[in-house]
Amino acid sequence: MAVHDYTEALFGASGRKAIVTGASSGLGAEMARVLARAGADVLAVARRGERLEALAAETQEEPGRIVPHTADLADGEQVDAIATAARELLGGCDILVANASTWSVARIEKMSPEAFRQDLEVNLHSQWRLSGILHPLLCDSDAGRVIHVSSIYGLGASVVNGLGAYTVAKHGVVGLTRSQAVEWGRDGITVNALAPGYFPTEMTADAIADEKISARLLERTVLRRFGNPEELAGALLFLASPASGYVTGSVLTVDGGWTAW
Ligand SMILES: NC(=O)c1ccc[n+]([C@@H]2O[C@H](COP(=O)([O-])OP(=O)(O)OC[C@H]3O[C@@H](n4cnc5c(N)ncnc54)[C@H](OP(=O)(O)O)[C@@H]3O)[C@@H](O)[C@H]2O)c1
Repeated sequence: MAVHDYTEALFGASGRKAIVTGASSGLGAEMARVLARAGADVLAVARRGERLEALAAETQEEPGRIVPHTADLADGEQVDAIATAARELLGGCDILVANASTWSVARIEKMSPEAFRQDLEVNLHSQWRLSGILHPLLCDSDAGRVIHVSSIYGLGASVVNGLGAYTVAKHGVVGLTRSQAVEWGRDGITVNALAPGYFPTEMTADAIADEKISARLLERTVLRRFGNPEELAGALLFLASPASGYVTGSVLTVDGGWTAW
């Protein structure tokens, strides 16, 4: 077998149907690109439709298509409509990358109940609701894959104050991953989490721009540098492809060694 055929059979995504939420920026945009490059058709979901259109235009030459779909994941009906869009625009769903996220920086004792609830809404509740509504389509797939994007703050507390609600939600995502892995194993669906360390994106721009915080983050990062979004490609393709057929309920860190201490 030629090398290309071997790696394609193991890590490829040709003909697969994927959904990536939070595809309008940062890690989500990169993961949508990676899946399209590996051959998947990707429903790219976020609120900023013009960004999604730009991503679709930029990736026109890739083997897989990027199909923009605008939705606000804080709105349950719009979450449910993603399943309809996947059915109508892609013809199903083999891979879900539940990546969209938001955070409000506030000390946990000072947050209003509404702000706390809102952080959990997009960062945890929408991942539960979206993966649940997609369960029938994932069951129809011959190899359903759910990849929940958690964080190093899904495995331990934040080293900077003010990310309490985010940390609670990301720990919840790990619990969701393990529970769904157990319940959906019989359906032939694997459910795993990706836990990134610090990567420069819109979400981390302020922290990384602050010299003191940045130095503290790098001190904790074994490789002494922030990640490049392209460095998520290998872990993503592993979890999305036949290569991870016997891997479920796991949390894969891509964190420059943050959690090695
Ligand atoms: N960057 C890091 O260092 C880092 C570290 C650990 C974990 N993570 C995780 O990695 C994932 C991606 O983060 P990122 O750094 O790429 O963040 P980002 O650049 O801020 O992107 C967040 C994405 O989520 C979407 N989003 C937010 N609220 C939404 C809503 N209500 N409805 C629909 N989409 C919504 C945004 O799109 P719209 O605004 O267009 O809706 C955007 O595409 C997140 O789960 C984050 O927690 C990131």
